This record gives sequence, structure tokens and C-alpha cells, in this order.
Amino acid sequence: QTDVIEDNEQIVHKTILLGDSGVGKTSLLVKFDTGKFQSGNFSATVGIGFTNKVVSVDQTRVKLQIWDTAGQERFRSVTHAYYRDAHALLLLYDVTNKTSFDNIRAWLGEIREYAQDDVVIMLLGNKADCGSNRAVRREEGERLAREYNVTFMETSAKSGQNVELAFLAIARELKYRQ
Ligand code: GTP
Ligand code: MG
Repeated sequence: QTDVIEDNEQIVHKTILLGDSGVGKTSLLVKFDTGKFQSGNFSATVGIGFTNKVVSVDQTRVKLQIWDTAGQERFRSVTHAYYRDAHALLLLYDVTNKTSFDNIRAWLGEIREYAQDDVVIMLLGNKADCGSNRAVRREEGERLAREYNVTFMETSAKSGQNVELAFLAIARELKYRQ
């Protein structure tokens, strides 16, 4: 890896949250950062910003600079500019929203176009707490992830299911990659 940023002699891994508007990117990051979940009014992200988090992998500190992007179509061109120097991408769909799952192939196409070839990608099926409204089965997510050879997890920003684990898995993969 040559395009890493040095910060206080520590490598900062640039990680970007991607996926359709409303899948829960901001909620996932806020849950990971603060442990809190805000239900109720959905306010779509406008623009782009990041949160720094340090996670522990096998007794060493791994710094993640996690960028939250706006999922709405009209902000896509802005988001593309951030792909190029990303080390990892967390690509989300909403398990209660079939369209957001169907759009994952298009997202992976954009990633292929704009991101580095060796970018670490993880597919996340979010809102796994919404049992009765589920529109995408877990196996469908697993199958798609296998097809594209990416890691897969179901998460919930509401219950916290797999939220830390997802970021830990990314940090681990970034630490041990060649
Ligand atoms: P954009 O900023 O427009 O790209 O959307 P986003 O992906 O950041 O979605 P956001 O995190 O704002 O969440 C959208 C809505 O889904 C909000 O009302 C959240 O409260 C809700 N939500 C997010 N994650 C979960 C989850 O895991 N479970 C449930 N039940 N609701 C969730
Ligand atoms: Mg958002």
C-alpha cells in the first residue's frame, strides 16, 4: 500500500460508507461512534464528512477515518471524487428495501470504475432488526457477496447487532492485507 496518510506515525485507513439514501449509513456510524440510535425523522445527509476512530486489532491500534457520504443520486458525482484514495468501502443496503439491494450491483460497478483495484469491500445488510418488514433474505445477501468475493454481514444500527464487528473486521483486513 503506497497511498497511506501518515499521522503521528500511524497509518490512517480511509474507509467510506456507501449505499442508497435511507439504508442507514449515518445511523451505523453514529451507533459505532457514540452507541446511540436516533429513530424517528430521517434527515438525509447532504455533503460529506468523516469521523476518526481507533480500533484495537491484536493489541495494536488501527486508525480508521470513516467517511459518511450522501446516498441521494444528486450527490453521486461528489462522492466519486472520494473513492480514489479509499482503502476500504462499507457498502450498505436495507434488508427491508429490495430496491436498495438490487442497486448493489450498480454500486459495485461504480466502485470498479472509481476506486482502487485493491480496495477492501464489505457488504452490509442493515436494519436486520426489522423482522416483519424484511424484503431481502440473509441468503440473498450471502450469495451476492460470494459472487463478488466480498465479506458480508447483516447489521442493525438500532440494536447494535454486528456494528462493532463490521468495523473490526474491516480494520483487521486492512491491518493484515499485503
Ligand atoms: P442518506 O444520508 O440519505 O444517504 O441516508 P443514510 O443511509 O445515512 O440513512 P440514515 O442513517 O439517515 O437512516 C435512514 C432511516 O433509517 C432513519 O430514519 C433511521 O432511523 C433508520 N434506520 C437506520 N438504521 C436502522 C436500523 O438498523 N434499524 C432500523 N429499524 N432503522 C434504521
Ligand atoms: Mg446519511
